[in-house]
Amino acid sequence: MPMEVHDEVSSDYQVLSRMATCDGHGENSCYFDGWKAYDEDPFHSTKNSNGVIQMGLAENQLCLELIQEWIKKNPQASICTKEGVSDFKDIANFQDYHGLQNFREAIALFMEKVRGGKVKFDPDRIVMSGGATGAQETLAFCLANPGQAFLVPTPYYPAFDRDFQWRTGVKLLPIHCDSSNNFKITKTALVNAFQDARNSRITVKGILVTNPSNPLGTVMDTKTLRTLVSFACEKRIHLICDEVFSGTVFGEPEYVSVAAILDEVSPHCDRALFHIAYSLSKDLGVPGFRVGIIYSFNDAVVRCARRMSSFGLVSTQTQRLLANMLRDDHFTTNLLAENKRRLRLQHQRFTAGLSEVGIHCLDGSAGLFCWMNLQWMLKAETVAAELELWRVIIYDVKLNISPGSSFHCSEPGWFRVCFANMDEETMDAALERIRRFVQRTASDKPRTIKSNKKRWRPSRRLSVPPEFNSSTVMSPRLISPRPPLDQTAN
Ligand SMILES: Cc1ncc(COP(=O)(O)O)c(C=O)c1O
Repeated sequence: MPMEVHDEVSSDYQVLSRMATCDGHGENSCYFDGWKAYDEDPFHSTKNSNGVIQMGLAENQLCLELIQEWIKKNPQASICTKEGVSDFKDIANFQDYHGLQNFREAIALFMEKVRGGKVKFDPDRIVMSGGATGAQETLAFCLANPGQAFLVPTPYYPAFDRDFQWRTGVKLLPIHCDSSNNFKITKTALVNAFQDARNSRITVKGILVTNPSNPLGTVMDTKTLRTLVSFACEKRIHLICDEVFSGTVFGEPEYVSVAAILDEVSPHCDRALFHIAYSLSKDLGVPGFRVGIIYSFNDAVVRCARRMSSFGLVSTQTQRLLANMLRDDHFTTNLLAENKRRLRLQHQRFTAGLSEVGIHCLDGSAGLFCWMNLQWMLKAETVAAELELWRVIIYDVKLNISPGSSFHCSEPGWFRVCFANMDEETMDAALERIRRFVQRTASDKPRTIKSNKKRWRPSRRLSVPPEFNSSTVMSPRLISPRPPLDQTAN
């Protein structure tokens, strides 16, 4: 009998679930074009110097060799060495979803240190998850029913749409922020978003914020944090603070965790409404370890999240290694300080190079990226024009950066550019390509977009640190590859 031939797509819709056939993951979005372009033609300083430079990846690769050194010096920390293998049976057999006591204590200490020792964390409230990705989804499952909503300030980390909404059926509704006040959350914007949801008969269960912000690279000021905390208390809704970038603050103002504000406002506020999502993906630069943490001040949430953590436990091998590493006080103190120092240098090097060609970024003091303003390069003040410019940057300039619309930014023309996943040579190549692109664009007809909106202005000139001599940015010694614009200009 001849085999029946199925049309793959339509048969999938018949035999699979709604979740398997829906687009909630976001992988089919046009924003993956940049990644595809990079995957097909990745830059390498000697083997493929005309390739696409990856600046769309919020990865911290600046201190990995320090971690490697520690691992070499501490072979007993791993069960896969002759010094540590005697613990193999105990560790390989352990599968309690509370996690190793040692690990939870080490994480609590590390979280305290990252926050300048100003807050205390209880190891019994530390719940494991598969990265902050898993932490967000678990919190959504614990705090809201399908159809209920969380408010989230724009622009925000695009994968929240996947992590928070896809499998849980929870909605995210925007709190619109704009550049007129450097994208800060105002009480008015918060109240409007809450009221809009009410008008649409959607129950708001909470607010989800990221501090420091991805994609802005800014730290939330204490006043805004207090506003959020009191709004949550007043409305009896939850506040989730994603603090995955807390160890990347390399400048002023000082970082303040929501945990510190709770200490301040207690007992006027119900602590059970507050939750922190954390991970070691950014601060330590080990996203492959999948170490995520849910820290909730709510006992019921801790209980439920812990039960759910069976779906995303951190392997005991990783727990053991990290328990040893993070308990090494001298090592973590140095690592955090060096991480900040290198991030600051890398940020200053990059933003100084941009400002030399007249490109400005929002004043950032944290994170692994800059929020770059290219509004003056747009043909029109639209998302379509932003995406058109973005495609030129990917395919002609050969830089994979991320357009603001992918972060739900309400103003076209902003782009997130990552700088901590590359060495100086690659950064110099990227800056050189940008310089040539700006020169070429400037010689085209000047663009003037009519707008009634208050325009964003850079707030201060960049100060270049003594360690960094800006003349080196464009020095021929450092410009290794001949950028593709050389060819396209011909
Ligand atoms: C704000 C924010 N939250 C969560 C995550 C996910 O982190 P993880 O690798 O720990 O899942 C990211 C990753 O970029 C992020 O930027």
